[in-house]
Amino acid sequence: MERIQKVIANYGYCSRRKAEELLIKGKVKVNGEIITELGFKVGPKDIIEVEGHILEKQEKEYILLNKPRGVVTTVSDDKNRKTVIDLVPSNNRLYPVGRLDYNTTGLVLLTNDGELANLLMHPKNEIEKVYIAKIKGILSVSNINNLEQGILIEGIKTSKSKVKIRKIDKKNNSSIVELIIHEGKNHQVKKMFNAVGHEVLKLKRERLAFLTLTGLDSGQFRHLNPKEVKQLYNEILNSER
Ligand code: URA
Repeated sequence: MERIQKVIANYGYCSRRKAEELLIKGKVKVNGEIITELGFKVGPKDIIEVEGHILEKQEKEYILLNKPRGVVTTVSDDKNRKTVIDLVPSNNRLYPVGRLDYNTTGLVLLTNDGELANLLMHPKNEIEKVYIAKIKGILSVSNINNLEQGILIEGIKTSKSKVKIRKIDKKNNSSIVELIIHEGKNHQVKKMFNAVGHEVLKLKRERLAFLTLTGLDSGQFRHLNPKEVKQLYNEILNSER
């Protein structure tokens, strides 16, 4: 028997967090009865219905997308903007692992494997996310140290990060900086640079764990192969030890 929100995520319907929201809203039925209790346990024989859809096992699918600018990283958008789901044809209900802002480009993983999505997003698993930011100005050594040791964003200290200056453009007073983090708070990279007095002009996610954008132009995508999926699970299991 497992907790209902975990089972919904494992079916690939949505993330565990979203499943919790749906439970609270009374959108989940088990064997025909509305269930709102987050800790409710279900077994393999229970019939689970979410927002009127009976959950059935789907084949797991994993897509790596090079997200262009001007696309939202959600399944649907109330302002009718293009979403990452519009860019990847699939018969499965895929959803993005983590978020990139509308104007951020780069690597987004889409999957219906709720278990993997959760594990990748959980900060305790310390999965590396590599961002390349074009920022206004040039970072001082003390600001680099502050970013690396953790800084306060809205009263919460970020965990340790790695900073590397890739290029300095003195004429235009800007620089290109690589930032490696493990967390995924909303607008985290922009807020981190803002906290040390630098505006982010452009942002791209270049790597997630060992996955990179090699061979993918903006807007292009590819499926992960089974070896890569296994390697992702292994990386998480190793980090849990
Ligand atoms: N941090 C941000 O500020 N924006 C993103 O899109 C991703 C990480």
